Parts: sequence; structure tokens; C-alpha cells
Amino acid sequence: MVNQSGNILISLLLFSCLIANLIKPSEGAYYGYNQNLQDLVDNEDLIGGYEAGILSQKSLQEIGNLRDDNSAWEPEFPRLTEDSDWLKHDFLNNLGQVAGISSHKNDTLYIFHRGNHIWDHRTFDLNEHYKHIGNGPIPNDTVVVVDTKTGKVIKSWGANKFYLPHGISLDKEGNIWLTDVALQQVFRFKKDDLDKPDLILGQPFQPGHDFHHFCLPTDVAVASSGLVYISDGYCNRRILIVSPSGTVLDEIGIKDNLFIPHSLVLLEEENLICVADRENRRILCYTAGLDDRSRPGILTFNVNHPRLNRVFAVDHVGDVLFALSVPDDESQSEGVTLDLATERIIDTWKPASGFGQPHDITVSLDKKSLFVSDIDPKSPKIYKFNM
Ligand SMILES: *[C@@H]1O[C@H](CO)[C@@H](O)[C@H](O)[C@H]1NC(C)=O
Ligand SMILES: *[C@@H]1O[C@H](CO)[C@@H](O)[C@H](O)[C@H]1NC(C)=O
Repeated sequence: MVNQSGNILISLLLFSCLIANLIKPSEGAYYGYNQNLQDLVDNEDLIGGYEAGILSQKSLQEIGNLRDDNSAWEPEFPRLTEDSDWLKHDFLNNLGQVAGISSHKNDTLYIFHRGNHIWDHRTFDLNEHYKHIGNGPIPNDTVVVVDTKTGKVIKSWGANKFYLPHGISLDKEGNIWLTDVALQQVFRFKKDDLDKPDLILGQPFQPGHDFHHFCLPTDVAVASSGLVYISDGYCNRRILIVSPSGTVLDEIGIKDNLFIPHSLVLLEEENLICVADRENRRILCYTAGLDDRSRPGILTFNVNHPRLNRVFAVDHVGDVLFALSVPDDESQSEGVTLDLATERIIDTWKPASGFGQPHDITVSLDKKSLFVSDIDPKSPKIYKFNM
């Protein structure tokens, strides 16, 4: 009996793999132009199977176990080890909750922190309005730029501008993109004019669901072409695609019921925009629309490995994703290294002390280090790992 049901299970799994291969691209590729994307992906039956039926959590678990037993498989992936010397740097003691971090050229790390403001259950009302406008903006410099080789602060700015920092990203030109969930806005600062933003999206303190408002926007990713992606957010379920001049061109992810799209990563070479769909415990990757071979917003990968808990942030090197997996007991959080093409977990990692409340992740441009920000007041604010 046991054997027989085992055989049935394996048959089912093989069948699942077959179906999965039919509807999922392999080898990290995206659907080719000639595969008739619309027919393939807009078929609700297939999407239904893809999402819930065929690749259920259970079968994914089984597939994962089968894969993990394959001892012939040799990893060629980056392994992370904590750089504990990093924790000695003084600047770490002068940061509030570090909401966002982003790597840039010359070993610089851009930090967006909350100074003396914190986000707790009293911060927003039931209609998603920020309740403490009267207390004014954060008096501290909220953007801090650090040389990661020396641990010295190169510059800091952004005092008396922000209320509740969330995401920070840099574009190819070095312009700085920031999201503030209290202000319900997204800002671009030219790299040589940190005084005034040269682009402001959204209405101050006004949450909303149309193309002129955000609802607690979380993160930004900018393509080399200048095309902008904004995850929106705690109380919307979408990714907005915005022209370099700030015109909203499209919204994607709508029919996938995103539940706190919390962090974005662009895989330009794959034409993919991936989102940490936080409360759904998965990473979804959509066609980014960076070439004319496919329209943007076609769901191409749905990474929901059973080991993934709430996914707070994601970054990548090639087809390898690094994600923060955060259970309800946040001290049990771990970093997870995933192979996008197979959904296989390659590695898990955490600092020697464990994480407190890890929040954001960034890979250095030389791809030799990875940083994790932590918003737990009792933890170091940023961890460094070498790879
Ligand atoms: C922020 O500024 C306030 C007021 O100047 C100061 O008391 C506090 O220590 C600063 N906090 C941080 C995290 O820099
Ligand atoms: C990096 O360093 C080079 C050489 O010192 C300098 O010209 C360049 O502006 C720096 N880039 C950034 C983004 O700081």
C-alpha cells in the first residue's frame, strides 16, 4: 500500500513537472516572441493550475525534496558569509530604523532611515492617513551615504523633508529615488541637487488608488532606459510603470492579488521585473516590457517555495535571487538564495546574532557583498555579507 501510494505520488509529481515545464520557461529564459504569449498566459485555466492547483504548496515541497536529494548537483552559486568586522563602524550607531538601502558606484551604500520617527500601530488611521503630521518631518539627515570599504560617511542630507522613509533606489545616472509611506509620495533627487526633488509623484499625505495617488508606496526600480517601476504598496496591489518624466504608463500585477508588494528588483538581461509579494510569501516576476518582444506585466515566474515566509525584500545576481524570509517571530528570519529557473533553494544565511527585523537587501555593484538593513531598534542596523 505504502509503496503504491508512493508510486502514485511520484507519477503525480512527474506529471506536475511536465505541466510546470509546459507553462513555465526553463533555464531562466522568458517566453519567446513566437510562443504566442497571450494564448499561453491569458488562459485562465493554466493560470489557475499554475497558481494553486497543479503546483500546490505540497507538490512544491515534494519537488523541492526530490531536488535536494540530488547529490550529483554541484553548486556554482555565491555563498554568503557574514563580515562581522563591519558591525564595528560608528555610523551604525547614528541611524534610526533603516528602511531602505541601495548600492551604488565606488563602493558606496545609500541609506534611507527614519531618524527619530518609528512606525507602529498608531502611525496610520484606518483610512491609511498618517496621523502625526503635526509633529513635523524627521529632523535628522535621513539619507546617509557611506563608503563601505572604510565605513566613513561621505555625505548625509534629507533633514526636515521626510516623515516615514521606506524605499531608496538609484538610477544609472546616480539620481536618488525615495518613497515615503506617510507622505504617500515618490521623489527623485538629481544627484547634484539634493535640496529639492526634481520629480514628485503622488499627493502629499493623500492615499489613493488612481494614477495620481499611491497608497503607502514601498519601492522603486529604474531601468537603464529610464523606465520606472513603483511597487504600490501597503494598501494597493500593483506595480506602476512610469515614464522618465513621471507619466504613469501602465499598472501591472492587478489580477494576481498582490498583498503588500514590498520590494522590487529588475533583471534587465531577462526583461523581468520581480516583486517581493510580501504577505503572499512569494516572489512574482513579470515581463518588464524593456524590449518590443513582449508587453509588460506577463506573469513569468511565481516563486513560492514552501520554505519562503513573508518576503520582505529581494535582489539578484544573474538568475540567482536573494530574498529575506521573515516569519511572524521575526527573530527567526533568514536570508534565502534561490535559483530563479528551478525555484530551488541553494542556500540560507543569517548573521551570527540572528536577524532582528530585516527589512531591505542590496547587492554591491561589484557583486562581492550583500547588505541587509534591520529595523529592530535592538539590532545592528545594517549587516554585511561577503560572497
Ligand atoms: C535625531 O535628531 C534628534 C533631534 O536632534 C536627536 O535627539 C536624535 O538622537 C537623532 N536620532 C537619530 C537616530 O539620529
Ligand atoms: C566614482 O569615482 C570616480 C573616480 O574618483 C568619480 O569620477 C565618480 O564621480 C565617482 N562616482 C560616484 C557615483 O561617486
